[in-house]
Amino acid sequence: MLRIGYGEDAHALAAGVPLIIGGVRVDSPVGSSAHSDGDVLLHALADALLSAFALGDIGVLFPPGQPETAGLDSRVIVQEVLGLLSRHGPFRLVNVAAVVTLDAPKLGAYRERLQDSVRELLELGSGSVGVTFKTSEGLAPGHVQARVTVLLEAGIGRAGTGR
Ligand code: C5P
Ligand code: MG
Repeated sequence: MLRIGYGEDAHALAAGVPLIIGGVRVDSPVGSSAHSDGDVLLHALADALLSAFALGDIGVLFPPGQPETAGLDSRVIVQEVLGLLSRHGPFRLVNVAAVVTLDAPKLGAYRERLQDSVRELLELGSGSVGVTFKTSEGLAPGHVQARVTVLLEAGIGRAGTGR
């Protein structure tokens, strides 16, 4: 059975903090202001995965503001979510489609690195993670946003990811 998942996230931008998107550090004078590492793409991905099986969202697994999650690498969040899904039943991730909305800096030069980073995290093959970039046209100049869809096949194969 095919399942679709969808997730969104946004973080305010602040000077002098890292901008991490999809596990990749982007060279930028402003970064994502957050309790964790502020990786909007991985947070939206985690919610997309959970929503595909109606398993809540990352706030349930990682309540906001917990001292032990300060500065947390968001790849850990995605790995925890994958573990939770595996315990729920066998599934195979088919593909991931994502949009990152950010007025500046431009992200085009990071596309390959970013897609590879998410692919490796999910153990997916080449061409399985597509990321597009948009500006907000000034509607959200102080924010970085992400929207992620995932397609999964449930109930077949071994529990885990697509490899
Ligand atoms: O939002 P807009 O349509 O003006 O974006 C034009 C193009 O700029 C996008 O299709 C994308 O290729 C690129 N872009 C980018 N980095 C961003 C925002 C947009 O590379 N932060
Ligand atoms: Mg977030």
